[in-house]
Amino acid sequence: SYSRSIIDIIKTGQIGETISVQGWIKSLRKQKEVTFIDINDGSTPTNLQIVLTQKSDSKISVGSSISTSGVLKQSPKGQNEVSAENMVLIGECDLAKGYPFAPRKQYEPEYIREHLHFRPRTRKFASLLRLRHAANISIHNYLDEKGYFNIHTPIMTSNDCEGAGEIFKVLPDNEKLLKSMAKENQASELVYFDTKAYLTVSGQLHLEAAAQALNKVYCFGPTFRAENSKSRFHLSEFYMLELEQAFLSNLDDLLIIVEDLIKSVTSNLLQKYSDDIGMCTQNKVSHKWIDKPFIKISYKEALNILSNKLNKTVKGDIVKEHELALTEYFDQVPVFVINWPKNQKPFYMKEIDNENVAAFDLLAPQIGEIAGGSLREDNYDKLKSRLANNNSQLDWYLDLRRFGCVPTGGFGLGFERFLQFVLGIDTVRDSIPFPRWPHNCKL
Ligand code: 4AD
Ligand code: MG
Repeated sequence: SYSRSIIDIIKTGQIGETISVQGWIKSLRKQKEVTFIDINDGSTPTNLQIVLTQKSDSKISVGSSISTSGVLKQSPKGQNEVSAENMVLIGECDLAKGYPFAPRKQYEPEYIREHLHFRPRTRKFASLLRLRHAANISIHNYLDEKGYFNIHTPIMTSNDCEGAGEIFKVLPDNEKLLKSMAKENQASELVYFDTKAYLTVSGQLHLEAAAQALNKVYCFGPTFRAENSKSRFHLSEFYMLELEQAFLSNLDDLLIIVEDLIKSVTSNLLQKYSDDIGMCTQNKVSHKWIDKPFIKISYKEALNILSNKLNKTVKGDIVKEHELALTEYFDQVPVFVINWPKNQKPFYMKEIDNENVAAFDLLAPQIGEIAGGSLREDNYDKLKSRLANNNSQLDWYLDLRRFGCVPTGGFGLGFERFLQFVLGIDTVRDSIPFPRWPHNCKL
């Protein structure tokens, strides 16, 4: 008989039927006559208990993979269990040979992170991976239903969209090739393409080009930031959902889109994946914010609250400490901070007046900024003057304003930070399968 997944057995298994199942051993208790073995096959956080009536293979241990078959019964506690007469060992898992996780021991996330290739086997992280998948699919479904088209923006690009200089350069690792390219290009620096190329920090500029024809578009892929930050909110490679919409000339309309997307995706996860959420959450998280309207304050109001109500002096930028204080002040409800000083934001944001741009940051309780966006400057002359110090590499972007331009607005949501927020995860490194951060790219 063919092997069934545990999720399928839980959902459709009939008491009394004979089933085959395979998985990894999560716990094992040997008694005189029988061995109780909990197995998991990754399809669900729920383990399936196998009651083995024969003597078990001595090599069977926690962590090893097995295949078994038997009759599906109901345990005294009312759960499914399989009464099995045989069990076949597929792969042994010998602690003595250096497997880093001993049975019945709890490990700190730092220790587990030192063994990234084994991390998916931990119960918490397996749940995280399923939830990450579910959130990913849910975002695509939500946007599809709302009429947005998914655009694959390039990973290699010649622009530094955010203009922060936090870019990774791309070059082939082949000196001979590079030298021959240099002759062809006659460039002063070694380049592979006709210009320097970078790993993208944002798909926004390309997305804007698509929005000027398809109207409602998004991209959702990896982005890269060369920031020397080892904070619990920064990765060198992270996933960003970016959305861009044409005929949008009011920041409030953009905020409505952000808020509804975040609430819909979160409630979908809460409804369908509560087992996994219960399993992977590190901190007690409340989702009460789902039923409350997000707060909206201007940058000026944020500064006022910080200095007058929260006794914090802001020198220059609003930093993480301020972000967290603000969401606490508003009782753990996410806060939109809108209308930012022009000099704190990238060149592409639309001016409200000489000093300010129509931008927002969304601050999440316990996390701080999870999303940022703006209306885009659609006035050719203004945009050109803000690009003045930039090179001609963005002439194509200026062109978008010269031919059939309509106002657009959009935002980027950090996927890992979103997961941190919804699932209560301490560090962003525990919300992505294989995290990259400064000095960490071995695996
Ligand atoms: O605020 P950012 O830099 O905005 C943009 O890149 C815009 N071009 C987006 C747009 O309007 N289309 O980044 C957006 C979000 C942040 O709010 C944060 O959640 C996340 O990306 N983010 C990071 N997440 C993890 N590690 C990092 N180093 C991050 N940097 C930004
Ligand atoms: Mg930002």
